[in-house]
Amino acid sequence: MKTIRVEEIANYAGQEVAVRGWVYNRTDKGKLVFLLVRDGSGFVQCVAFKGDLSEALFEQIVRLPQESSVIVSGLVREDKRAPGIPGGYEIGVRDLQIVQAAAEDYPMALKEHGPDFALDHRHLWIRMPSQWAILRVRATVIAAIREWFDTHGFLNVDAPILTPAACEGTTTLFETEYFDEGKAYLTQSGQLYNEANIMAFGKVYCFGPTFRAEKSKTRRHLTEFWMVEPEIAFCDLDQLMEIEEQFVTHIVRRVLRDRGPELRSLGRDLSKLENIAPPFPRISYDEAAKKLQELYEAETDPEKKELLKFEWGIDFGSPHETALTNLYDKPLFVYGYPTAVKAFYMEPWPGRPEVCKSVDLLAPEGYGEIIGGSERMSSYDLLLQRIHEHGLPEEAFKWYLDLRKYGSVPHSGFGMGVERTVAWLCGIEHIREAIPYPRTIKRVYP
Ligand code: 4AD
Ligand code: MG
Repeated sequence: MKTIRVEEIANYAGQEVAVRGWVYNRTDKGKLVFLLVRDGSGFVQCVAFKGDLSEALFEQIVRLPQESSVIVSGLVREDKRAPGIPGGYEIGVRDLQIVQAAAEDYPMALKEHGPDFALDHRHLWIRMPSQWAILRVRATVIAAIREWFDTHGFLNVDAPILTPAACEGTTTLFETEYFDEGKAYLTQSGQLYNEANIMAFGKVYCFGPTFRAEKSKTRRHLTEFWMVEPEIAFCDLDQLMEIEEQFVTHIVRRVLRDRGPELRSLGRDLSKLENIAPPFPRISYDEAAKKLQELYEAETDPEKKELLKFEWGIDFGSPHETALTNLYDKPLFVYGYPTAVKAFYMEPWPGRPEVCKSVDLLAPEGYGEIIGGSERMSSYDLLLQRIHEHGLPEEAFKWYLDLRKYGSVPHSGFGMGVERTVAWLCGIEHIREAIPYPRTIKRVYP
């Protein structure tokens, strides 16, 4: 008999198969026992009928604790009402082998205990259908990211994780003693190394974990998150936006193609994602400021009005990003932010030094910034000045300054946070469910 994966069950209607997995749920109806069995690739309903089985086996099934590991075999039947992921098929049990009967004290209804309990039991929580579905989407997002870059002329060149200096401001650095070399820091971004790498390889991307000692406890911040960062030689801000919209569209399409059952099981409205195609709307920070002013004036609820308060020069808070993106049904580019709220390495806007050639991509439905990027500064002298203004140690940036001396070219790049992207695609509340083992200001366990 063939052992199948539940995700392929539609190919086996009318056949005898075996499924190896775990009992996620059990419902007893007298002579019938319904087991929801998960095998890692899906969830399938298995129906045990007393008349089909030996009395001893049926008695064991009736008492089978949740999370017992089992090998079930039987006949696959199509039934539109059968629950499961993908669902629509069930197995009429002919035989069941218990690999291990689980201990009876499995923390059953994890959800009823609230988020801290669930997070303390993350090692078990990932077995639940919602968490399982999110992490399956995450894997496909990562595959789609690599697929797009690998087929569009980018070379994967990874950046170090232990670094001598800050890339994204000195306030969120994790530091560690590094032998006799003094302090080292966990990377906030591989960008500066990408800038060296494009002068060797033209178009590159790095992809790995990045770290920010974020004091903020929001649903959008982790202290350890995964970022993919492409960098492109001979590329300006407009070309960068074209790359971003093609790239993001590819990810959305691949997830829709491969993870429909998972998204549906999460209750995601797929029509919102099917909509997404280039071109994405583009507005300047100045235009965004004007729109926010209009929204502020039109708002009648005093609490919401307070949150929308805005003046030119400040960075967007999440209420601002949400209000702006609610005006569109696609991701929104906002470019030309004030120099003062952005990192030290961004090229100034020609004739307007108070503005820089930066662009953020804001996801729809209130998910906010998923990509931050910019054209990079070309002038050696100005870059050195910025390094000083930002209180960064010049010695640690010598190599970076070299890049402006030996064949510098206009170049641009961006970083996309994997977890924020996954949270948006899955339509979930909190970013911590978009990574297998979240790290936040109050959590390093499990
Ligand atoms: O906007 P950020 O800080 O940009 C950079 O780090 C650039 N050096 C990237 C580059 O141009 N190569 O971060 C980029 C993205 C954000 O848009 C967001 O999606 C994600 O990284 N991100 C976080 N995700 C989760 N938790 C945090 N604390 C995050 N900080 C940034
Ligand atoms: Mg940013």
